[in-house]
Amino acid sequence: MSRLFRIKPMSMLNQEAAEQGEHSLKRSLGAVNLVMLGIGAIIGAGIFVLTGVAAATSAGPAVSLSFVVAGITCAFAGLCYAEFASIIPIAVAAYTYGYATLGEFVAWIIGWDLCLEYGFGAATVAAGWSGYLNSLLQQFGIVLPPQFTDVHGAILVKFNDQWMNIRQLPAGIDASALPHVTGVINLVAMLAIFAITTILVIGIKESANFNSSIVFVKLAIVGIFIVIGGYFLFTHPQHAAANWHPFIPPSEGHGHFGWLGIPAGAASIFFAYIGFDAVSTAAQEAKNPQKDMPIGILGSLVVCTILYIIVSLILTGLVNYKLLNVPAPVALGMDATGVSWGSMLVKVGAVFGLGTVMLVMLLGQSRVFYSMSKDGLLPKWASAIHPKFRTPWISTILVGVIVAFMPAFFDVEQLSKVVNIGTLLAFTIVCAGVWILRVRNPQLHRPFKTPLVPLVPILGILTAGYLMFNLPLITWEVMLGWMVVGLVIYFLYSRRHSKVQALPEAQQGD
Ligand code: ALA
Repeated sequence: MSRLFRIKPMSMLNQEAAEQGEHSLKRSLGAVNLVMLGIGAIIGAGIFVLTGVAAATSAGPAVSLSFVVAGITCAFAGLCYAEFASIIPIAVAAYTYGYATLGEFVAWIIGWDLCLEYGFGAATVAAGWSGYLNSLLQQFGIVLPPQFTDVHGAILVKFNDQWMNIRQLPAGIDASALPHVTGVINLVAMLAIFAITTILVIGIKESANFNSSIVFVKLAIVGIFIVIGGYFLFTHPQHAAANWHPFIPPSEGHGHFGWLGIPAGAASIFFAYIGFDAVSTAAQEAKNPQKDMPIGILGSLVVCTILYIIVSLILTGLVNYKLLNVPAPVALGMDATGVSWGSMLVKVGAVFGLGTVMLVMLLGQSRVFYSMSKDGLLPKWASAIHPKFRTPWISTILVGVIVAFMPAFFDVEQLSKVVNIGTLLAFTIVCAGVWILRVRNPQLHRPFKTPLVPLVPILGILTAGYLMFNLPLITWEVMLGWMVVGLVIYFLYSRRHSKVQALPEAQQGD
């Protein structure tokens, strides 16, 4: 039994972190790169797509309060991630932290669970991205074969010269009278994943440059929305007052509006915050990880929280929340201001912006497999570094191929909820890990210290747990099913090949 909970010794971690040369990853990222990497991962399908759904179905204008609730949850977890990232500057933070504190079995659970966050996350965004690209191209009169733009089995109808999923059809329209096709496979999303995978194989520095430039475009689009939308509301206060009233719509059943709609909305839009922890997956590529990792994690989280609260307030002021359940709610908000080029600009920004999210998610996922393979928990080829590009090319390609098939069968909403529950689970384990390591190893040098331990980790666990209970039962079932598969692999393969298991007893927990 105790073998299950063998801890990876800190000395082993530090040795890996210090490893340089032929077979290690290239250290090329500075603090600004890391904050940009975080923002690149964070702002994406959550704010561009899911905000509208949460406002229309869960929280109304109070979706801005949902962003506050989810932001607070992330802040507790972010503070814990930052402490760990400063102690152990090594790729795949949550997994590594778990290994050092809670033992191999828990580490395996986190690593496997992180696939739900990164792998499914990339797939979610690819699905959302294909919708935006399609809508943008149709605006230019370019129509892709609709059966290759949505999930297998989806019904697509042509309405007002636009192909759309039947669920997006305005109420009261008779779908049977419209031309329709059945989705074969979402080829657009697949090709996007393949393109990003190619960039990642070529190299981390190139990837970081690609990311930084597109993050800038994405921030500019969000900024333009805030300025134009904010100015409109400032000059039309009666418009804003009408849409913001009632700010918390009366309850229509559990989790549908009323006060409980706020946490239900938070559990849905939580996806919008996912990604700041992806900064920690790049720890081995950071030039000065101990100082820069906390800056990267907390800096990107703070910037995004402020932007989200402002954007959601402006959006619900511009458009009545009941009308926001559309694929491109932010573009709809721009339409309400009367600025004709605004909606097109938002769509272009989303197309580029979601690309960077996919990049960071896929980067994170391939690094999860890389780290698990280095520890012997997955086969050796998963950590093979390309001699020229110095990237873990085999795991990157494998991840790309698997992830590319997910949006072919599942839509954005289904995928995003699975990602949320997986990530919240990882948060609770990381928060527990910080607390446990403080008790077990109080002397350890911590360049960044989570304030008020154990209060902050406890609040992190409670808030993440509360959001998990606000997610539908099916997401729990998917998560548990995924975990069962993981446990089978662990007991059949990983346990027998683990490097930590092979260490002499004397070296345990040093
Ligand atoms: N936070 C990322 C997004 O919203 C995952 O797309």
